[in-house]
Amino acid sequence: MNTPPAGLEIRPLTIPRAIDDPDATDFVAMTHVRNLVYSETSGHDDERMTPAELLPNYGPDPAELRLAWLVLLDGEAVGRIGVDVPQEAGSRVVYWLVELRQSVWGRGIGNAAYALVESTARAHGRTVLQTWAEHPPSSGEHLQPPTGFGSIPFDHIARFLLRRGYQLEQVERISALDLRDGLPRVRELCARATEAAVGYRTVQWRLPTPPEFVEGYAWMKSRMNTDAPAAGLEFDEEVWDAARVARADAKIVDAGRTALVTAAQHIETGDLVAFNELVINNDLTEATSQYDTLVLSSHRGHRLGMLVKCAGLLSWLDIAPHSPRVLTYNAEENRPMLDINEAIGFAPIGYEGAWKKVLSDSSTTADAGIADSSGSSGS
Ligand SMILES: CC(C)(COP(=O)(O)OP(=O)(O)OC[C@H]1O[C@@H](n2cnc3c(N)ncnc32)[C@H](O)[C@@H]1OP(=O)(O)O)[C@@H](O)C(=O)NCCC(=O)NCCS
Repeated sequence: MNTPPAGLEIRPLTIPRAIDDPDATDFVAMTHVRNLVYSETSGHDDERMTPAELLPNYGPDPAELRLAWLVLLDGEAVGRIGVDVPQEAGSRVVYWLVELRQSVWGRGIGNAAYALVESTARAHGRTVLQTWAEHPPSSGEHLQPPTGFGSIPFDHIARFLLRRGYQLEQVERISALDLRDGLPRVRELCARATEAAVGYRTVQWRLPTPPEFVEGYAWMKSRMNTDAPAAGLEFDEEVWDAARVARADAKIVDAGRTALVTAAQHIETGDLVAFNELVINNDLTEATSQYDTLVLSSHRGHRLGMLVKCAGLLSWLDIAPHSPRVLTYNAEENRPMLDINEAIGFAPIGYEGAWKKVLSDSSTTADAGIADSSGSSGS
């Protein structure tokens, strides 16, 4: 391991109340560096957010302690660090990120940043450290996860994580769907799924969630961590109530962003049993993100996944008619979901590795707290 450069500063991120407040400078710089790193890695700008759009993700949240730092070299922002500490009872995990501009890689900055991640996890008594990294495509040697599905290049990022004791647990496919042709295939798929889904109907709403759907939506959100393929990753079972739904909604709505939820309702019971989320920033000409999609396990086999995805996309053409494409992330072993996406027309544009390291219990201090952090990581 190497010593970091002399001009390196890692500064706890100040979270401003509003983006035009005088103390918002570091938050604005953090957002800027975030967008640049994502663009450098993926070759597109579809993940960009404005500081005002990102800010609501950093408000206090009883479900998750979010810690963040700005990385500066000779006074210039070159990266960011985030550690999210879920507050579920008995949680052992943290989710972290270290994201640096490519121009400063290989100088020991990542190493210094990562030391802070691990000491933060230890200080909070957490032993399971997990992170997701997009690996730009490259030829040459590749690594496979134990699932046997997909691979990522054995690149600078992979070497960095492996040297620090991480294991590649899962590969996620990033896919894009071109919206500009008006989705003729999707109209047909939607009609067929509607025919197959006897006993169900679709219901839709824009966030914030209307009161009549809060309970059903909260239950489905709580199943995301338990019902999606997790490979060797560790996820806490999350408890979602009306207050948590309202907080999650506010992170999108307070930023002026638009989200459409399309759900399948079991007509006989009125239960919500499947859902799909589409989200876009304030600028409706930007790319769309598909967030969660889930069919509750007891209602699988009725084409409900296809139904909620297709119905959502068709409505989306009216909400954001100039958004050029939709991005989505799926586990490479999640064949049922990939089958639906491929039929709709999604095609792979990149791959992410999901990495995990387990610390030995003896090296941690149970929830000692951390004095030098004020922010949160967020997406
Ligand atoms: C992964 C990432 C954080 C690594 O950061 P980095 O600053 O390049 O990492 P470092 O320079 O500290 O360490 C990389 C290697 O370069 C070596 N190195 C450092 N300075 C060097 C130098 N002057 N000459 C040669 N090698 C050097 C280090 O020893 C280290 O090797 P090691 O892993 O065998 O110890 C960075 O590439 C990045 O931000 N990637 C994009 C986001 C991402 O994928 N993050 C990870 C998951 S969130």
